[in-house]
Amino acid sequence: MSSLARERVLRVHHWTDTLFSFTTTRDPSFRFTNGQFAMIGLEVNGRPLLRAYSMVSANYEEQLEFLSIKVPDGPLTSRLQHIKEGDEIIVGRKPTGTLLADNLIPGKHLYLLGTGTGLAPFMSIIKDPDVYDRYEKIVLVHGCRFVSELAYREEITGSLRDNEFFGDLVREKLIYYPTVTREAFDNQGRITDLLESGKLCRDIGLPALDRENDRVMLCGSPAMLADTVALLEARGFDEGSHNTPGHYVIEKAFVER
Ligand code: A2P
Repeated sequence: MSSLARERVLRVHHWTDTLFSFTTTRDPSFRFTNGQFAMIGLEVNGRPLLRAYSMVSANYEEQLEFLSIKVPDGPLTSRLQHIKEGDEIIVGRKPTGTLLADNLIPGKHLYLLGTGTGLAPFMSIIKDPDVYDRYEKIVLVHGCRFVSELAYREEITGSLRDNEFFGDLVREKLIYYPTVTREAFDNQGRITDLLESGKLCRDIGLPALDRENDRVMLCGSPAMLADTVALLEARGFDEGSHNTPGHYVIEKAFVER
């Protein structure tokens, strides 16, 4: 059996000049855990050109959804940004990734810290009822340069809370904290600065970050990951992996596409 499947594009949504998302059909045999990514892409000159993309859709949804930036001279995204309903994309059959609830030691609060398209894996996680069972609070922090880049804001603050199966859990447990760095907004500043100063925890009414109670998943640029990891390690947090659960886990939000 081929390790690649072909899926049909069902919808494309352009959030900004540099950010878009799209929905595709899903082969029922394609299984994944919320938080994972797959290799997806297009056929270019007769060969698959693939990049890692986290699933925005949850593992029980019938369709797949992905969030992407548009890089003008990016080998894949310069092409992918032009996809339309009815086009085909390639989806690798082997999802993988470290942003898994099982890679964390049990805790009280789960912090999901993402910048830019680093939001994507957390969208599937906040649609996972099992994750709500594991934590008292789930704090989704999305950091972007501009307000227009806060993708899925309406879904997170609207339809997710009204979900007929787990909307009550979302209303009770999910704290959404969007923050931007390059224009005025309710919340401003880099995630790292908001953590360092304690402003984030104060704003949401939770105790200061602490390895006893808090677990963290990170998805962002290499610089964001390095700075946030340094901050967590300074507070005694240990990184978790498939073999050894820890206090935090990280994934690169892949940028040069
Ligand atoms: P800033 O505007 O201050 O650079 P990008 O699009 O460059 O990936 O940035 C997405 C968001 O991540 C922006 O708000 C950006 O802030 C922020 N950011 C960039 N580098 C870091 C970092 N090292 N630590 C925390 N946040 C960062």
